[in-house]
Amino acid sequence: MKTLVIVSHPYPEQSTAIKALQAVAERSANVTVRNLESLYGSDLAAFDVTAEQRAAEAADRIVFLFPIHWFNLTPMLKAYLNAVWSYGWAFGPGGTALKNKEMQLVVTAGATEFTYSSEGVIQSSMDEVLTPMKASAYYIGMQYNQPLAFYEAMGASGATLNELEHRFAERLQAPLGSL
Ligand SMILES: Cc1cc2nc3c(=O)[nH]c(=O)nc-3n(C[C@H](O)[C@H](O)[C@H](O)COP(=O)(O)O)c2cc1C
Repeated sequence: MKTLVIVSHPYPEQSTAIKALQAVAERSANVTVRNLESLYGSDLAAFDVTAEQRAAEAADRIVFLFPIHWFNLTPMLKAYLNAVWSYGWAFGPGGTALKNKEMQLVVTAGATEFTYSSEGVIQSSMDEVLTPMKASAYYIGMQYNQPLAFYEAMGASGATLNELEHRFAERLQAPLGSL
C-alpha cells in the first residue's frame, strides 16, 4: 500500500503540531510527503500539475494534513484542488484518476472537542466543517475515511505532542479499507 501525504500550512514558521506530524510521515514506510508551501510558497497559481497528478495516481491512500484556520481549508489546499483535480482527470469524461482511492483527512484545531459538538459555540461538528473535502471525495469516487482531528493543538508540546504523533503514525500504517 502506498500513501501520499499532502501537507499544507500557511505559516510554517509558526507551526509546531503540523510540522511534527509531517516529520512522522517522513519517517513512515511507504509514505511520500509533499508540502504545498515548501514546493510552491503561497503562490496559488504555481502548481506543477503533472507532478501532483503523478504523485496522486501512484498512491492508494491520499492523506491531507492541515490546520483548521477560520473553520476552513488552507488557501493552498483549496488551490491544489482547483488546479490538480482537473476535468478529464479527476472528473468528467475519462476522469477517474482517483476513483476508489482513500481520502484521509488529518487536521489540527486550536479549539476544544466540545466546541465542535452540538452544544459548542460554533454549532458545527468537525465533520460539518470538513464537508467541502468530504463532498469533493465522493464527487470523484474516492472512499472517505473518518477524519482524524487533534483538538487543543495550539502550541502542543511534550506528552501531548507525542500522543498526536503516535496516533498519526498508527493511522498512516492502518491497512487499506480499515478506516
Ligand atoms: C489564523 C488562524 C486561524 C485559526 N482558526 C481556527 C479555527 O477556526 N478553529 C480552531 O479550532 N482553531 C483555529 N486556529 C488554531 C489552529 O488551528 C491551531 O493553532 C493549529 O491547528 C495548531 O497547529 P500548528 O502548530 O501546526 O499551527 C487558528 C489559528 C490561526 C493562526
